[in-house]
Amino acid sequence: VRRSIVIGTGSSLPARRMSNLDFEGIVETSDEWIRQRTGIANRYIAGEGETTVSLGEAAARKALEAANLQPSDIDLIVLATATPDRTFPASAVQVQMRLGITHGFAFDMQAVCSGFVYAITTADLYIRSGMARRALVIGAETFSRIVDWSDRTTCVLFGDGAGAVVLEAAEGEGGLSDRGVLVSRLRSDGAHHEKLYVDGGPSSTGTVGKLRMEGREVFKHAVGMITDVIEDSFEALSITAEDVDWFVPHQANRRIIDASARKLGIAPEKVVVTVDDHGNTSAASIPLALDRAARDGRLKRGDLVLLEAMGGGFTWGAVLVRW
Ligand code: ACO
Repeated sequence: VRRSIVIGTGSSLPARRMSNLDFEGIVETSDEWIRQRTGIANRYIAGEGETTVSLGEAAARKALEAANLQPSDIDLIVLATATPDRTFPASAVQVQMRLGITHGFAFDMQAVCSGFVYAITTADLYIRSGMARRALVIGAETFSRIVDWSDRTTCVLFGDGAGAVVLEAAEGEGGLSDRGVLVSRLRSDGAHHEKLYVDGGPSSTGTVGKLRMEGREVFKHAVGMITDVIEDSFEALSITAEDVDWFVPHQANRRIIDASARKLGIAPEKVVVTVDDHGNTSAASIPLALDRAARDGRLKRGDLVLLEAMGGGFTWGAVLVRW
């Protein structure tokens, strides 16, 4: 059977790092409050000239280098973002142009924090159908541009950045030991749209708007939704948590990550955590974490890697990849 295997990862962060202490004079908060409730210590904030497209391009170039490919080898780009440079054209097409690619096709995917899980699922389907051979899957965000910097309940949580993976078509046996994306499970439920949203948009207000969140409400639903969809993905492959080598969740909040791992029965040393250093980078958080764990040698060929995300919509999903 045709599979999509991961052959390279890359990431990019803005130059400016902002610690919890740097919120002094911006909102009334403390390092202790932020660390205790979220596990976050630092995040990176885009400066002048740094945008979703520029960060996405930088991450893509590093992933291509790691995969030993030229941009011209790519025939599909799926870029997950809720913070595009422009309403249109898609940020994916701008990245495509900056990489000098004039063939194939590129588009954005909008599932907020679940964007990367949706994007890798979509790219995998294009590759397995034969419509694409090598895909760049990018998560790139600049949430600092849509947070309300006067709202301490949200502005301390988010950061900017981008991560990318290169997927390539390969033949597998059709079994659990194949490399590549083995299963994806996606969900959405718009009944929850008012718990986490942006209060503007081209068609409703003609403005960009700011992020609004009922944090406690999101928290309440997160662990149950995440663990349900992961259990579905385990069932699809007839595996258990024991079979997972690495858990690479969306990095929103340390407490959500720990509670999900505990409920699933995944040992803490198998969990890749970057939220302390990156904050919540929405669709960029999983590929940023994958790139870190790939480069520091944790992710090894043959490892079973569990990806999971949940975000605005709500949208959520899980993907199992044999590295
Ligand atoms: N600094 C200091 N105090 C604060 C801050 C802050 N930055 N923010 C809120 N507080 C205060 C509140 O005003 C409140 O004070 P009160 O008791 O006097 O009213 C108190 O701290 C407790 O507030 P809660 O909202 O109840 O705090 P909670 O323990 O729920 O933590 C948090 C808030 C961190 C937002 C938590 O609810 C959470 O993580 N929710 C999930 C959010 C999330 O992960 N969203 C992203 C998922 S989807 C995506 O990634 C887009």
